[in-house]
Amino acid sequence: MTTLLAGKTAIITGAASGIGLATTERFLRDGAAVVLVDNQFDAVDRETKRLKDEGFRVVGVGADVVDSSDIRHAFEKGVARFGRVDIVYANAGVGYTGTIVDTSDDDWDLVMGVNAKGVFITAREAVKQMLAQKPPGGSIILNASISGLVGIPGQAPYAPSKGAVVQLTRQLAVEYAAKGIRVNAVCPGTVDTPLLRRAMAMSPDPDAFLAMLVAGHPIGRIGLGEEIAAAVAFLASDQASFVTGAILPVDGGYTAR
Ligand SMILES: NC(=O)c1ccc[n+]([C@@H]2O[C@H](COP(=O)([O-])OP(=O)(O)OC[C@H]3O[C@@H](n4cnc5c(N)ncnc54)[C@H](O)[C@@H]3O)[C@@H](O)[C@H]2O)c1
Repeated sequence: MTTLLAGKTAIITGAASGIGLATTERFLRDGAAVVLVDNQFDAVDRETKRLKDEGFRVVGVGADVVDSSDIRHAFEKGVARFGRVDIVYANAGVGYTGTIVDTSDDDWDLVMGVNAKGVFITAREAVKQMLAQKPPGGSIILNASISGLVGIPGQAPYAPSKGAVVQLTRQLAVEYAAKGIRVNAVCPGTVDTPLLRRAMAMSPDPDAFLAMLVAGHPIGRIGLGEEIAAAVAFLASDQASFVTGAILPVDGGYTAR
């Protein structure tokens, strides 16, 4: 338990699994209240109850990030319960493995819809709330990926969806810096989450697939959700008061090659 985020309220999307759940737990242990948002309704109920039973201040909201009324409702619920929103982590995303030839129009729409439009909708609601509250301001963190920074084979719609997140970060950072809103992005390397496990299960040789992923990371392993959460907690906190528009790789050196 720390006081890094004491007194702050956070909204986290995709918070019922993987990196989002690890970040929810990290924020709660750092003293924040958290609105846990996800479209897996059962998991929202289960994780919210578990964390409440541990004594944390957490509210669960079942919501789809591509539905702007759902996301508006999540913010309204957070403000009604905790009074304001200091931190928003737009983390919800879907994976995809395939070349451009494998990618149907529907695949493109799904991946761009959740990973780019969903982040746009969440960030728009965050900016509106952070401008309106007294005093105004806050910290927004968008989840991109190493795929938003470098070309990686087999990421046909995923890479452009994460590239959009990287550029949205820069655009919002310069637009709202003077209003007290900081906007940064994290770019995780491969992280051991249910998303990765699903991709491994679809591979003809999961062990070889994992070994190939590990080989891309100079640090010699893939990451943990907690390691992404630690970077997000820093960006969310007042320790990062002069950090905005940063695109932070948390990738074991993947993009340093
Ligand atoms: N795992 C990795 O290797 C890795 C690497 C780089 C970036 N990322 C990114 O990190 C983020 C989290 O990924 P993860 O690995 O924790 O995956 P995950 O599948 O474990 O968790 C993602 C969560 O997002 C939720 N979600 C998906 N679509 C949603 C929607 N439309 N509305 C609301 N919630 C939705 C899911 O229900 C799930 O709980 C994603 O944006 C992903 O692209 C992951």
